[in-house]
Amino acid sequence: MDSVIIHNSLTLKMTEEGNDYLHDSYHGPVDKEITAIDLKVVGQIPSDLDGVYIRNSHNPIEHSISGRYHWFDGDGMVHGVAFKQGQADYRNRMVMTEGYLKEQEAGEGLYPGLRDGFQAEDGLKNNSGTDVLLHNGEFKTMFSRCGKPYRLDPVDFHTIGAEDFSGDWVKGVSAHSKVDERTGEFLFFNYSFQEEPYMQYGVVDKNNKLICATDIALPGPRLPHDCWITENHTIVHDLPLFWDPELLLQKKKKLLFDQTKASRFGVIPRYGKGADVVWFECEPTYILHTVNAYEEDDCIIAYAYKQLNPLPMVPAGTSRVKIQNYFLSYHITQPRLTEYRFNLKTGEASERIIDDSCAESPGINSAYLGIKNRYSYNALVPEIPFFLHNGIQKFDYQKMRETDRYILPEGKFMQQPVFAPRADSKDEDDGYLIAYVGDKKETEVYIWDAKKVSEGPIARVQLPQWVPFGSHAYWGRGSDIREAQERNQRNKTAP
Ligand SMILES: [Fe+2]
Repeated sequence: MDSVIIHNSLTLKMTEEGNDYLHDSYHGPVDKEITAIDLKVVGQIPSDLDGVYIRNSHNPIEHSISGRYHWFDGDGMVHGVAFKQGQADYRNRMVMTEGYLKEQEAGEGLYPGLRDGFQAEDGLKNNSGTDVLLHNGEFKTMFSRCGKPYRLDPVDFHTIGAEDFSGDWVKGVSAHSKVDERTGEFLFFNYSFQEEPYMQYGVVDKNNKLICATDIALPGPRLPHDCWITENHTIVHDLPLFWDPELLLQKKKKLLFDQTKASRFGVIPRYGKGADVVWFECEPTYILHTVNAYEEDDCIIAYAYKQLNPLPMVPAGTSRVKIQNYFLSYHITQPRLTEYRFNLKTGEASERIIDDSCAESPGINSAYLGIKNRYSYNALVPEIPFFLHNGIQKFDYQKMRETDRYILPEGKFMQQPVFAPRADSKDEDDGYLIAYVGDKKETEVYIWDAKKVSEGPIARVQLPQWVPFGSHAYWGRGSDIREAQERNQRNKTAP
């Protein structure tokens, strides 16, 4: 048990003094890729847990050109735990992006970073370190500022290559593009800083073939982060937090929250064209993450974390290296669970905050993405200025209130939980919640029974190396991985 193989040692060069995302840090980086088989466990891993819990992260290797580091600049690294028959195996692997490989070959940083002003927008490295999901039997990693997704082997996580859907889509894809597990489709949006009309939308089928793509016209460059899907529609975001357009003309970059502008939500039929988009206007805000959306009668009902303080005030005298801490802190941006209703018949929109808890990074049973769900598992926000969570809230949308919660032991933090269904589960919440939990030194994987979150973890899987806190996570069902691999094999050998 617990056999550990060092797959690769990494030479880390990031040293920016005072950067809380590099030094004495919760967020990384690590200097080894390892494989650990049959991990030690406190408690018992459920025997029916069958699949892969995978989480992306930013693991910076080389300095950016200026040496200034923003957490979102770091090269992508996935940390995954495969569960089968009560056993767990861990692997972490770099996402071998084009930029990472070029820098490794050059032996130095070649790209600007997000803190490098206007010129960086032209030359950001697509580090593919933001998001990850399973599509067509492979994991796909994605970057919040768009770029080609990267394809990872679902078993050993090696990078297969950049994804351009057989050459049919070369523009890029944003993080928080979605997979509809009922159809196997991958629904994506892409946004651009300079190129009008600033947004695109498309659908890729379960065999990885692009089946539609269209431009969506925005009034200017925007910074959307997420979207919603329903059975028949996709809803994209045009939010009034963006780069000051007058300063952009002077080749300067400064975030502006324009409270004279509405938050606009664009509803497009799943296979629609940009001209089909119907826009709904709501109060100005910024949304990082959505929960879910569904159709009911003439309405789309959508849940997301609306921020009460989208553009934090940074106290005078704050050193430049600390400024990102304010923008990366949910404790400061104050997200609240909010219900939006978009009436497709009347064109009316409404919104209401449905819970006062400061939380974010929700997980749901992904089989319910796009259809009416009853539960989400929201990560609670501690009162510290870092991108961390200190517990799980189970929210019941039928009762419209929190029905369960678990607070981690003092000093322990987690990020987005994923839901893994029990074998032959009947209820939406019949399954397990999984998340990395740790501090600055040690990491475990907690497994909760989703029906009894407050009772604490039923198993704690112990990892032989520390896992930094990262970005987004996904549950890849073992059956989906095997089925897609068999289908792809059949397609390869078909005459
Ligand atoms: Fe995100």
